[in-house]
Formats: sequence, structure tokens, C-alpha cells
Amino acid sequence: MTAPRVASARRYLMCPPTYFDVVYCINPWMDPSKPVDQRLAYLQWQRIYDVFLELGHQVELVAPLPGLPDMVYAANGATVLDGRVLVARFRHEERVAESPAYLDWFDSRRFEVRQADCVNEGQGDFLAVGELLLAGRGFRSVRAAHTETETFFQRPVVSLNLVQADFYHLDTALAVLDEQTVMYYPGAFAPDSQQVLRQLFPDAIIATAQDAAAFGLNAVSDGRNVVLPAGATSLAAQLREHGFEPIAADVSELLRGGGGVKCCTLELGLARSAAPEPKGAA
Ligand code: ARG
Repeated sequence: MTAPRVASARRYLMCPPTYFDVVYCINPWMDPSKPVDQRLAYLQWQRIYDVFLELGHQVELVAPLPGLPDMVYAANGATVLDGRVLVARFRHEERVAESPAYLDWFDSRRFEVRQADCVNEGQGDFLAVGELLLAGRGFRSVRAAHTETETFFQRPVVSLNLVQADFYHLDTALAVLDEQTVMYYPGAFAPDSQQVLRQLFPDAIIATAQDAAAFGLNAVSDGRNVVLPAGATSLAAQLREHGFEPIAADVSELLRGGGGVKCCTLELGLARSAAPEPKGAA
């Protein structure tokens, strides 16, 4: 018997793929010699956006900037916890100019915001589960960024070593489903990190190599509904067996840049309540 899964309304930040393209190669999925179907990418992105709204979530937008074709992958912009924001410091020159856009976005909305000193690719590599912060390294964010993030948020960081280039960000190899449940692909992690994950999450959902290759772990969960790339069919079946509600999104074109559902979604926290301020509040 699985416990009933409970959804909570979330607040997300996304970036429309107006300038999405594959014109350089910074991960094994990117092949600049093959043209991108921008219209299809837009439709796929729009469907993710629409699903979030249908599920009752709030979605805000950061303005896309010309010359930044990877900005659609908003998850990399920052890590956000309890209204505090650590903005990314990108590893590759091609994405460095995204950081000021995120700094401005958060700053003008009165978040407490700071840019990371160390190479840190935001929620691509930092995922909160309960009180813990799982942190990936090996391809993008550096080990020192794990320490910096731990100090900034005052949350214990669990440092995980990624070893397969196809799964270059933590969010391509592991997804947080609720406060204590994760799903992941063990093969993406070094043996000692696999051991850590087994101990922390004995009841985790384990993805197959095929599901991982379909980017199935690049998923967004609200505690019950899990929006995930459509190709990960056996992972969807496993989610259902565990009481979650999988919702498939076709991301074939977004995958050309090496990103799926989660990459396009920066999680800001729980949705802000629409309830009016109590009378007499200052
Ligand atoms: N082309 C982008 C890069 O290589 C894809 C980023 C995917 N984002 C993610 N959160 N995994 O940086």
C-alpha cells in the first residue's frame, strides 16, 4: 500500500524559447550541424507551461535575451530556498551573460539575492529534498560550490559525483518527487555516491538506462503530479505504481539542447496565496 500523494500549488519561473537554438556544443546532446525546429520547440515549451497552469501552479516569466539560446533552461539560473536566492555562475562562456538577467529578475522582486562565487549551475545541480540539499558535481558545478551553497542556505549539502557525460547536471539523473522521495538513475553516479543515495533513499524509484536516456529524470513534481519527458514510459508506469500521477510532455526538440521538463523550470517555492491581506495589516 502506498501513502496517498498530496499535491501542493507551486510557483515556477520559466523563460520562453524565443531565441532557442543549438549553435555551440557544451554537452553531448548538442549537435550544431542539425537545424532546430524553433516552432516545435516553442510548442513543446508551451505545453509544459500550460500543464503547470492546469495543475493550479503559478508560472512567471523571465524575458529571453537574443544571443542566449540556452536561456530557455531556466533551472540553471539560480537555486531558490525559503525566498533566498543564489544566482548561478556558469561554467561555459556561452551562458555567462544569463546570470545578470536572473540577478535583476530576483532583485526587482525583493528576493534576498546573491551571485555565487564558485561555478554553480543552480537547480541543474542543486535539488532540495526535505531539509537536505542534494548537489551534483563532476561536469558543471564545482565541489567548492557545494560548500558555498551549504553556507549560504544553512542547509546540509549531500555532495554527489556525476560520472556519465550524458547526465551532466544532477537534474538529468535524479528528480525529487516529494519531501522524502526521489527517483534516480544509479549509473550516472560514482559508486560511493550510489551508496549514499541507497542509504538516504532506500525506497527510491530506480530508473532504467532507457528511461534515463529519454531524459525521464528531468521531471517536475508537485508532490503528486509528475511532469516528465514522454519517452520515459516505464518510469511513468513505476510512478503510477507508487501513487504518483505521471504527465507526459514531448520534449524531443528541447532535448536537442540537452534539456527536458525540469531544465525549463526554476522552482521558486510554494505558490503565493491569493487570499487578501487581513484587515488592519500594516
Ligand atoms: N544546453 C544547456 C547546457 O548545456 C542545457 C542545460 C540543461 N539544463 C539543466 N537543468 N539540466 O547548459
